[in-house]
Amino acid sequence: MAKHIPRIGLGTFRLKGQDVIDSIGSALELGYRHIDTAQMYGNETEVGQAIRESGIPRKDIFLTTKVWWDRLKGDDLIRSLEESLERLGVEQLDLALIHWPSPNDEVPMREYIGALNEAREKGLTRHIGVSNFTIAQIDEALSVPGGEHIITNQIEVHPYLANRTLVAHCQAKGMQVTGYMPLAVGKVMQEPILQEIADAHGVNPAQVALAWVAARDIVVIPSSTKRSHQQSNLAALDLELSRDEIARIDDLDSGERIANPDFAPKWDE
Ligand SMILES: NC(=O)c1ccc[n+]([C@@H]2O[C@H](COP(=O)([O-])OP(=O)(O)OC[C@H]3O[C@@H](n4cnc5c(N)ncnc54)[C@H](OP(=O)(O)O)[C@@H]3O)[C@@H](O)[C@H]2O)c1
Repeated sequence: MAKHIPRIGLGTFRLKGQDVIDSIGSALELGYRHIDTAQMYGNETEVGQAIRESGIPRKDIFLTTKVWWDRLKGDDLIRSLEESLERLGVEQLDLALIHWPSPNDEVPMREYIGALNEAREKGLTRHIGVSNFTIAQIDEALSVPGGEHIITNQIEVHPYLANRTLVAHCQAKGMQVTGYMPLAVGKVMQEPILQEIADAHGVNPAQVALAWVAARDIVVIPSSTKRSHQQSNLAALDLELSRDEIARIDDLDSGERIANPDFAPKWDE
């Protein structure tokens, strides 16, 4: 599997205005080189500002944005990415994702995957990918023209939602899986099993959760507004869990899904 996406990135969902500027500023100082945003987050302008203010060369930062599902029609998808580039103040994205599959297939997949690939061919983005796609949707996406360029499916993965069959399917197709909400939006901090394992290593439960996701060869994109959290999250990539610890965390999987809007696809079991 070709690995184009850095193993850890900073998520920016819910972060607005000065919060997102400060969060990205400290993350880049600490060594993060991968930022995850989306048109829907309403923070692309600030994300771009923070990247410029960091002084880090644009080419050293892996920047992802996502196209919202109301912009999936062919020409409009490309226009929406041009608008993203304008807001971000960059010439090219590293990765452009379809944020959610078109609800009820209102826009045919062939049309929006084709348009996404056209955006890549035009140089608007280096890579393309999808998010929140099910197994059947991954298979369909890979079968339409341009779909062979998809490098990732960004999906919810944390100790309460291991998402095993989907992860295995994507990885078998040669894609990198990107795991969002890897900390179950902070819930992992209250988990006694993770705390026990963390104590044994002298780390915190967030680091254990991130190390468990990363051990499955899944890219992690935790968000944090706090420098100390960002720093320990980054250090989590160096944490090695034993087979027994991994098995105990595997047992926490209850299929609990946090991101489940009414326009979500019919999820795999
Ligand atoms: N593709 C999609 O549909 C989709 C959906 C959801 C999310 N995402 C992406 O995935 C990213 C991550 O998801 P998320 O932000 O919802 O949830 P998350 O990363 O699982 O959790 C973020 C929460 O955890 C806290 N936290 C972070 N590090 C911590 C630490 N070391 N110790 C204690 N608490 C810690 C943060 O608080 P502090 O700020 O106080 O640290 C924040 O409240 C998003 O930002 C977004 O970029 C994508």
